[in-house]
Amino acid sequence: MEQYVIKGGIPLNGDVTISGAKNAALGILAASIMTNEKVRVNNAPYVNDIIVMLDAIEEMGGTVERIDEHTVVISGKGIDSRTAGNDSLRNIRAGYYFIGALLGKSGYARVPLPGGCDIGSRPIDQHIKGFKALGADVKIENGIVIAKADHLRAAHIYFDVVSVGATINLMMASCMAEGQTILENVAKEPHIVDVANFLNSMGAKIKGAGTDTIRIVGVPRLMSTEYDIIPDQIEAGTFMCMAAATKGDITVRNVIPKHLESIGAKLVEMGNKVYFHNDTARVIGVSNQTHTDIKTLPYPGFPTDMQPQITTILCLAEGTSVVTENIFENRFRYVDELRLMGAQVKVEGNVAVVEGIDAFQSANLRAPDLRAGAALVMAALAADGISTVTDISYILRGYEDFDKKIRGLGGQIELCDDDRDVTKFRLRIG
Ligand code: EPZ
Repeated sequence: MEQYVIKGGIPLNGDVTISGAKNAALGILAASIMTNEKVRVNNAPYVNDIIVMLDAIEEMGGTVERIDEHTVVISGKGIDSRTAGNDSLRNIRAGYYFIGALLGKSGYARVPLPGGCDIGSRPIDQHIKGFKALGADVKIENGIVIAKADHLRAAHIYFDVVSVGATINLMMASCMAEGQTILENVAKEPHIVDVANFLNSMGAKIKGAGTDTIRIVGVPRLMSTEYDIIPDQIEAGTFMCMAAATKGDITVRNVIPKHLESIGAKLVEMGNKVYFHNDTARVIGVSNQTHTDIKTLPYPGFPTDMQPQITTILCLAEGTSVVTENIFENRFRYVDELRLMGAQVKVEGNVAVVEGIDAFQSANLRAPDLRAGAALVMAALAADGISTVTDISYILRGYEDFDKKIRGLGGQIELCDDDRDVTKFRLRIG
């Protein structure tokens, strides 16, 4: 069984370079099929969700030239919008971006309902409401979303909840609709801005991305472009937390400091030292960290995708911390695993009350989802002794070379395929 085996208790020190943003890349790759011309995408992270997305583009009839692990040239020319209903897309949440992309491009999309991490009910009502407002007929048959429109017309759409996915999907669906579409109460995450910049580089006319209101003037067609994806905010935040968890000193390279302010601020409140420079964030984890409270919120608030990581370090901070999860209702499942390590956390609904302990004990852990999986690896790195983390396919969906990057910081971690690998690793580390 594939698992990480980790010998913890060693402070992580040194430099780590952050990969391209997974959640930006997912939107950008879907949007790249909206033109029949070639699109070159640089700095895509080499992670499983991206591989699935690229496979899906090929299965639909598009072409994908893999220049190297991080660079692809995509052509949406051969895409048949009636064939996007392939099963692999069910496994990733972002498969639903093909609804907006195909509907916007050709007026027809047939895409399976999204899968992805089980962190809550994850409805898509806001996406559907938006597509309908643009004049599309949308129905769900046997788990497949079918959206069609003879002619998409601009609309004024007010989202009832702030949704990353709905914002990206409606930007794509409306960028070739006739007239000016106004999207209100939109998400402002860094990847929203990145997808908007990408679409604009293809000739779209999108203004206001990164604010509450986005205005999109429809253009007749989109064109060829070359685009560099931004660095991953959450991967960077995860490594920042690792410095705090292991009381180490990590310089996280290739970051956009603005995107990391809420994470840095919380680490500072806990007593850690955080220094931002042009494109780096250095975190020095102190030994006497103190409690703080966290409320997850849409950007620029504290990201839900960092909630398991920050909760994990709060377990080792002196005093009582309160963590309120406001985005997804099912995002505390990893707490059962932390309890195996001695953590004292009580969860009531969307609130976790954390009583700080001195140290984690090593344990055999199971990753319940992507970010929680990364948090458990971090807990294992902080704990003396040998721990294991199974179900790591979740982690491999979103973190490029996770174990390799940790080893680069002096961490002792090995991805083991079977018991023989585990024995070899244990013998090596002694
Ligand atoms: C994106 O998911 C990310 N995924 C998630 O990252 C991230 O946790 C989330 O945004 C919040 O930042 C991708 O970008 C592929 P939402 P998404 O629509 O778009 C409710 C990771 O670990 N909602 O912003 O699915 C929803 O239930 C992943 O990388 C509706 O009610 O999230 C939630 O409470 C996990 N109706 C809230 O809005 C809708 O139609 C925010 O969800 C849509 C959403």
